[in-house]
Amino acid sequence: MTESTEETGRHAGIPGVDADVAEAAAAERDIAVKVGDDLIEVKNLTVKFGGLLALDNVSFTIKRGEILGLIGPNGAGKTTCFNAMTGVYKPTSGQVLLEGRVLNGLKQHKITRAGLARTFQNIRLFGEMTALENVVVGLDARHKTSVVGALLRLPRHVREEKSSIERGMALLEFVGIADQAATLSRHLPYGSQRRLEIARALATDPKVLCLDEPAAGFNPAEKEELMQLIRTVRDDGYTVLLIEHDMKLVMGVTDRIVVLEFGKKIADDVPSVIREDPKVVSAYLGEPEDDFA
Ligand SMILES: Nc1ncnc2c1ncn2[C@@H]1O[C@H](COP(=O)(O)OP(=O)(O)O)[C@@H](O)[C@H]1O
Ligand SMILES: [Mg+2]
Repeated sequence: MTESTEETGRHAGIPGVDADVAEAAAAERDIAVKVGDDLIEVKNLTVKFGGLLALDNVSFTIKRGEILGLIGPNGAGKTTCFNAMTGVYKPTSGQVLLEGRVLNGLKQHKITRAGLARTFQNIRLFGEMTALENVVVGLDARHKTSVVGALLRLPRHVREEKSSIERGMALLEFVGIADQAATLSRHLPYGSQRRLEIARALATDPKVLCLDEPAAGFNPAEKEELMQLIRTVRDDGYTVLLIEHDMKLVMGVTDRIVVLEFGKKIADDVPSVIREDPKVVSAYLGEPEDDFA
């Protein structure tokens, strides 16, 4: 990839991001024009599992261009909240809106297409596919070419195939694993698998990227590198919802933090206030020492 000298583009000046890479990775994405308005609204979201109220009347907003942290002790309802937002679970009641459009009730793939992409707490990749193929699958979901066109290799299909591979490679480069493009994903080191999941989610061209404990199982240096990648993703114009159990980790990367405990929202504020909030401190008491600092 050549160094870009263009300083006027929308990716100009973002440290660590080659403008060409960013452009190729998301050529059609309409960059946020109104940073700061409400992109996602979660309204009175409730999820019951039998008698268990896993999510209890939770409301919050995600503003365009921000990194919102969703934290809380184990079992607090973080993953359930993600699952209800992304169509894995049907909420018992409440609403999820993206730019004013109601998402709950839509099938998972329609929610993805509407602009909400996610990774999973437990990695879900196609193990027998290469890293590049895993990303191209995400890009393919957006293709317009018919199966007949693909079989006859009509010009548009050939063109789309080329641009899928180029865009897939650009995304792998963006997350820092381009050198492993041809490796079967099950043979990738764990850290690269986590990065590949992020690349695959970005391939769907989301407005909001939802990450469920992306740094789970990482050592401190790897965690810091991943937080840097998340900052880069945001600086490139995406909005990020970051679930994390390790409170210290989110302090340095999030703009705002929503705290859940026993399915209820107990706090919603900037990191410096969350850190001092007695309710949050006591929610984390009894958790292992290194999760709270
Ligand atoms: N599919 C499910 N069926 C029944 N209970 C569930 C299910 N998923 C989560 N739970 C329960 O809901 C609560 C919240 O879980 P979860 O959202 O996974 O918490 P977190 O991600 O914050 O650790 C827990 O008590 C958990 O056992
Ligand atoms: Mg979870």
